[in-house]
Amino acid sequence: MKIVFQILFFLAVGSLTTGCYYDNEEYLYGTCDTTNVTFSRDIKPIMDANCINCHNSGTINLTTYEGVKAKVSDSTLYKSISYSYSGVNSSKNMPSSGKLDDCSINKVKAWIDEGAINN
Ligand code: HEC
Repeated sequence: MKIVFQILFFLAVGSLTTGCYYDNEEYLYGTCDTTNVTFSRDIKPIMDANCINCHNSGTINLTTYEGVKAKVSDSTLYKSISYSYSGVNSSKNMPSSGKLDDCSINKVKAWIDEGAINN
């Protein structure tokens, strides 16, 4: 019986020490892997987490590849997330609540530089 509790204990400790939010490469080692960035794996989750609350229909719809691509093509997507707007246009820096983390911005840039394809 004792062994059962030991196993349960290790399983519990294991689940506490793995699923941690900050337990990722970028946070632990200060690296940001911008090679082989894909829309589905890297870009869509960034849009989903930070943008689609507001941009899910109409002229700016970041819920789909086509919608994101449209904003890459008119060059406003990177301009907004890199906080490149100034003066009266400052309200177009996105998200308005504060800049994304550098790694996310660099990944979007890398994806755009690679042609912003639906990969
Ligand atoms: C809280 C709501 C909100 C969130 C979250 C948000 N936006 Fe916006 N976004 C707006 C509003 C409002 C405008 C219009 C601002 C203006 O014209 O002054 C806008 C405008 C834009 C524009 C057009 C800029 C231009 O030059 O016309 C782009 C591109 C954009 N947002 C991208 C994003 C991206 C990418 C994210 C996530 C990283 C994001 N937004 C998150 C509300 C939001």
